[in-house]
Amino acid sequence: MYRNTTCGELRLADAGKHVEIAGWVQKTRKMGGMTFVDVRDRYGLTQVVFDSENNPELFEAANKLGREYVVRISGKVEERTSKNNNIPTGEVEIIADGLKVLNKSKTPPFTIEDNTDGGDDLRMKYRYLDLRRPCVKKNLELRHRMAFEIRRYLDSKGFLEIETPILVKSTPEGARDFVVPSRMNPGEFYALPQSPQLFKQLLMVSGYDRYFQIAKCFRDEDLRADRQPEFTQIDCEMSFVEQEDVIDMFEGLVKHIFKYVKGIDFTEPFPRMTWNDAMRLYGSDKPDLRFGMEFVELTDLAKGHGFAVVDDAELTVGIVAKGCAGYSRKQIDELTEFVKRPQVGAKGLMWVKFEPDGSIKSSVGKFYTPEELQEWGKRAGAEAGDLMLVMSGDAMKTRKQLCELRLEMGNRLGLRDKNTFACLWIVDFPLFEWDEETQRYYAMHHPFTSPNPEDIPMLRTDTGNVRATAYDIVVNGTELGGGSIRIHDSELQNEMFELLGFTPEKAQEQFGFLMSAFQYGAPPHGGLALGFDRFVSILAGLDSIRDTIAFPKNNSGRDVMNESPSPIDQAQLDELELQLKAKSNDE
Ligand code: AMO
Repeated sequence: MYRNTTCGELRLADAGKHVEIAGWVQKTRKMGGMTFVDVRDRYGLTQVVFDSENNPELFEAANKLGREYVVRISGKVEERTSKNNNIPTGEVEIIADGLKVLNKSKTPPFTIEDNTDGGDDLRMKYRYLDLRRPCVKKNLELRHRMAFEIRRYLDSKGFLEIETPILVKSTPEGARDFVVPSRMNPGEFYALPQSPQLFKQLLMVSGYDRYFQIAKCFRDEDLRADRQPEFTQIDCEMSFVEQEDVIDMFEGLVKHIFKYVKGIDFTEPFPRMTWNDAMRLYGSDKPDLRFGMEFVELTDLAKGHGFAVVDDAELTVGIVAKGCAGYSRKQIDELTEFVKRPQVGAKGLMWVKFEPDGSIKSSVGKFYTPEELQEWGKRAGAEAGDLMLVMSGDAMKTRKQLCELRLEMGNRLGLRDKNTFACLWIVDFPLFEWDEETQRYYAMHHPFTSPNPEDIPMLRTDTGNVRATAYDIVVNGTELGGGSIRIHDSELQNEMFELLGFTPEKAQEQFGFLMSAFQYGAPPHGGLALGFDRFVSILAGLDSIRDTIAFPKNNSGRDVMNESPSPIDQAQLDELELQLKAKSNDE
């Protein structure tokens, strides 16, 4: 036995006990004839005292301890004279009577504390040290707790956890695949799964009517704060269900997690919003409903006053920032710069100030009388003291730009509190998305998503307006998860493939196994997948999903700790019968 207690357990009631602990040296403080050593393990921090008078030999040894040495210490628990209320063990200390150095440590490249002096890159290079920091550890503990509660909930509802393969067939839809060459089948490749989508549908055909998996997924796409090349989904599928059944089951799961992990009880059903309304009112299919600031369309009021920007625009739309009429020229300029950034891409920003004295100031005062601008304010519910921000242009683009500005204003006004959680479902997504570049339709969700039965007659006549039986769950402006009711009829599935531009041969080559399975009694089915990393980061109040993952990749998809990806040996390439393209000179 290395220890009989941990560094997080001892309290005043333990005073007088003889204990043994094992852990890492956080810090040593020498104060005259006494040396204080803080020892850390997974559970906390405990102060140990070495006294030169009582035990000169141990005292000498303690003075030689360096940061992050691994030690085993025995001693008696005593009440501290100066207590530390910042840590749970702060009322006691151990008076050491034994010390063994189990392992030495080089001086770590950064301090192992929440407020570390180590920058991002350094911490990622030494991630195993970074993981020792309590704030990182807390996230992994939360992740574990959530995984445990997810399994508890789904098990109680009769779901079976079934693993699906990691080496799968490459399919062209969705993001780019990561591919793996096959040595035994030279010239052929597996792909890593972007999700277990096809396998879970096959499991439904096999009769496993409630499936789930906490599944690793891989997507070779551009990375952002909420995207990693390998990430985890809580992947689920059910048979003999309609949209309402799926929404009900997984709203239950999300509520269960909030309740048992976070202590938050959502008693009301989550609101639902159609995709059209979400785009019209928030310019986003993942609106952050922690605050209002809904869009107000002003196109009819604004057109025809000789202002070309507005007259030529498809849409003029604004938001009202409560109490912001006092914004200075500099603050307004900052907002204008914000919308002009390439990431937002707007040409400019109009503003109207409804001054507390009832007067009006505006960047477009040249074109509109104060009475006309009052009309804008009236429609938007603006009051004296408010600021209205208005944009014009192509409808979809302008909505997306104003969405960015709305979120920015939410940040500036402190309306996006990390301890408030606004959950909602987005429903009635379009089934297809038109791509200008390739001049074809793509599946907005995936090609297996069922059209809304009412819209099936429009599939060929009004393709762009066909609604899908698809739904997303959104929390605080993040798409937490999404799913759909699937097509289980091979004829309809074939029609979908055709509309998506697959020739029958190509569809057969890519999805033949699914189509053939559907000919053997496929039940009606549907499901969804929640992003597990995103779920953890929302509950932990993190800005990025990276800190919910023990060993994440950086923004270039690299693991800077083990330096992957990395070149492979010529022998490995030969075995795989692969030849690398020679780099051209300008690369
Ligand atoms: P979808 O592609 O919407 O659906 O993914 C489901 C959820 O997974 C999370 N997610 C990601 N998280 C981190 N990094 C990424 N790169 C990443 N990509 C997606 C998101 C997202 O909502 N098979 C379907 C689900 C279904 O229809 O049942 C699917 O994969 O939180």
